[in-house]
Amino acid sequence: MKFIVPYLENKHFSKLWAFKTQMQESVLSSRRSPPSPRSAAASAAPSAGESEDESKRRKLPSSASFRLSSHHWRLLLPNPVVSLLLLLLVLLLLLLLFLGPTGNSVCFPAGGSFSRVKLLGGPVDGFASEFGFLGVPWCRSKHGKTVEWTYADLLKGLEEFVPIYETRPIKNNMNGMGFDHSFGLWFMARWLKPDIMIESGAFKGHSTWVLRQAMPETPIISITPRHPEKYLKKGPAYVDHNCTYFSGKDFLDFGNINWNSVLKKHGISDISRVLVFFDDHQSELRRLTQALKAGFKHLIFEDNYDTGTGDHYSMRQICDQFYIRGGGHSCFKDGDEARLRSDRKKFWEKAVDIDELCGKGEAWWGVRGQVRDNFNHSSKAISYEEHFHNSRFVESVLDVYWELPPVAGPSLTHQTRYDPARTSDPIIEEGHFATFQKLGLTRLQSSVFNGYTQMVYLQVSDPAS
Ligand SMILES: C[S@@+](CC[C@H](N)C(=O)[O-])C[C@H]1O[C@@H](n2cnc3c(N)ncnc32)[C@H](O)[C@@H]1O
Repeated sequence: MKFIVPYLENKHFSKLWAFKTQMQESVLSSRRSPPSPRSAAASAAPSAGESEDESKRRKLPSSASFRLSSHHWRLLLPNPVVSLLLLLLVLLLLLLLFLGPTGNSVCFPAGGSFSRVKLLGGPVDGFASEFGFLGVPWCRSKHGKTVEWTYADLLKGLEEFVPIYETRPIKNNMNGMGFDHSFGLWFMARWLKPDIMIESGAFKGHSTWVLRQAMPETPIISITPRHPEKYLKKGPAYVDHNCTYFSGKDFLDFGNINWNSVLKKHGISDISRVLVFFDDHQSELRRLTQALKAGFKHLIFEDNYDTGTGDHYSMRQICDQFYIRGGGHSCFKDGDEARLRSDRKKFWEKAVDIDELCGKGEAWWGVRGQVRDNFNHSSKAISYEEHFHNSRFVESVLDVYWELPPVAGPSLTHQTRYDPARTSDPIIEEGHFATFQKLGLTRLQSSVFNGYTQMVYLQVSDPAS
């Protein structure tokens, strides 16, 4: 059953939203019902010199086979057999529309349990690809393996997590995680059930608190330059009592810790049962290399920034390559990508236009051809070859790449930052207000939904395996 109850809080927002939805839907409509490659080619094949996207915008040819003139109708309708057949056909079509697959939507069957039509992992073939250059890039894994959990599990998790989130000690976690990523971290930690959890980058301790809610008895190691207890003097913060802090004078960077000896001290012998969470704004390529060297297998990166955004080189950026759908970009100022980007920038704060995307020499990878690191305190230009090589390296060690979807569509959360054209489908899709409300999500301030940056879970192993 579909719930289509628009949630419009005030007049200003409804206008803005209507505008946005119009914009979004014009793109989404092509995403939801991709033409089969063969029929698309037959009806609207681009002629030489015409881009594929121009051909997509074309209307169907108004040939005789597509139109019935009034003369034809007069001939057909008085015939009762033909009329009956037409009526049956219309009824059949309506029935198919009603009972048929709901695309990517989440369904609530009569039994009450959740089911999902969509598979997890990379974007589903034929959906995200319809965005073309503004699609949803992703990292290829070695054997195409994906996570075990489903959208149904995520929905169930949300039901449990909302009341937990409402008890968080740090209500205003600006510069830290918002709702979407807090849920993602909690959900994955709970699902993976590690023997120990390591976090790099704790700030006031909100993510430590989230890990603790997921696994009440599991030890935590927290690496962060400033101890969260320092923040307690000024306001809300969280200090955990079953946590070893590498902070203050004991601070050591993740890459400089002797993990063999630290894990041994904690009685951990199986490194595949360790979960490492990075929210320290360091190059994710460097963190991946360090994690591989230590033998870690399960990694979560909080800020998996999109190309052209953010303060460190992310997995998303590394894997943004021409051979990935939705990956690779054009710096051509009069091109379709430039036009689409400037349109989308009007609606989504984090969308980047072609000027922000491209640096010297039409370098679009990373951020304007630069690899940012350490909260953008350092930035280095790299060649396209180097960027390409980085993605091949990442692919060679990846067993699983999974981006947390946004919790709910922007018309429900009222988020205005990330461009939904560059994310996977939300757990609660647009129009499903009843579900959003039932899960208690309307009780949360809309600002908590503004921090989504494609948190990602990786399972990694040696290139050879
Ligand atoms: C975005 S905040 C973390 C937010 C936190 N995870 C949360 O959800 O509230 C980034 C943190 O990384 C810390 N940091 C900076 N350099 C670091 C490093 N090399 N290793 C670990 N943490 C670092 C900063 O001091 C800051 O506390």
